[in-house]
Amino acid sequence: MIDNKTLEPKISDSVAKLNALFGAAPEVAVVLGSGWAGAVSLVEGAQHLAYTELPAFPQPKVEGHVNEIVVGTIGAQRVVMLRGRAHTYESGDCTGMAGALRTLKRWGVKALLQTNASGSLRTQNPPGSLVLISDHINAPQRSPIMGEPGSERFVDMSAAYDAELRAHALKVAQSRNMVLNEGVYCWAVGPQFETPAEIRMFAAWGADAVGMSTVPETILARHCGLRVMCLALITNMAAGMSDEALTHALTLQQANASGERAAAFLGAVVAGLSELPSLQG
Ligand code: HPA
Repeated sequence: MIDNKTLEPKISDSVAKLNALFGAAPEVAVVLGSGWAGAVSLVEGAQHLAYTELPAFPQPKVEGHVNEIVVGTIGAQRVVMLRGRAHTYESGDCTGMAGALRTLKRWGVKALLQTNASGSLRTQNPPGSLVLISDHINAPQRSPIMGEPGSERFVDMSAAYDAELRAHALKVAQSRNMVLNEGVYCWAVGPQFETPAEIRMFAAWGADAVGMSTVPETILARHCGLRVMCLALITNMAAGMSDEALTHALTLQQANASGERAAAFLGAVVAGLSELPSLQG
């Protein structure tokens, strides 16, 4: 459960720091998942700040991982990128991104673009392809806002992945002659990969992609009023759908192989948001 009494002053401190260092908030935040780190190089005038300077952000437990925000512009769009997210499989806690997302919202960010690496349940989305998430299945039925007060906790999830942002991403894909299918993302807590039986069940439920992140963040973001979009980079066919055994190394290898193309598309999507009236002003 989120301990709001402890978290609140950390959010206030973090927002004050962001305002002092960067001024007004960018309209757009991007969470960079596995394979997406290359997008950082697209940020012009990039300013970096470690999560350790932002008390509401998840504090890295493993040395060597880059855990920082990057603030700058892509084209005419100001953006803040988050390198590093807290995963539920690290600790069992699914509230790890609450402070970071509430800080972004209070700073003035309007839209949260999530990215992740996923397994594919559909042969039309092979490894290397991107899937625009249209909806999700919270398979573990865990909630990061369990215990939150007030009626705001009963968050409408019927249009969690913003229709206008999705239409924008589809338009950008079309303009680049790129295939971008929409799909339903199914959250599996991990860290073990799924069994083939689980994947068959998720497919029967209507899932198109599976992964170990994103869903808690989408719930937290909708709860605090951020608009959400999500792009999944397919790194592998899901368990039982290919002859290959699933390993973290294999997913990282595919993520790295496709990462540059994925990042370039993400950059075009972000740049184009500067012309979306509902996000500006
Ligand atoms: N399952 C869960 N998470 C993943 C997968 C997968 O097949 N691929 C990349 N992240």
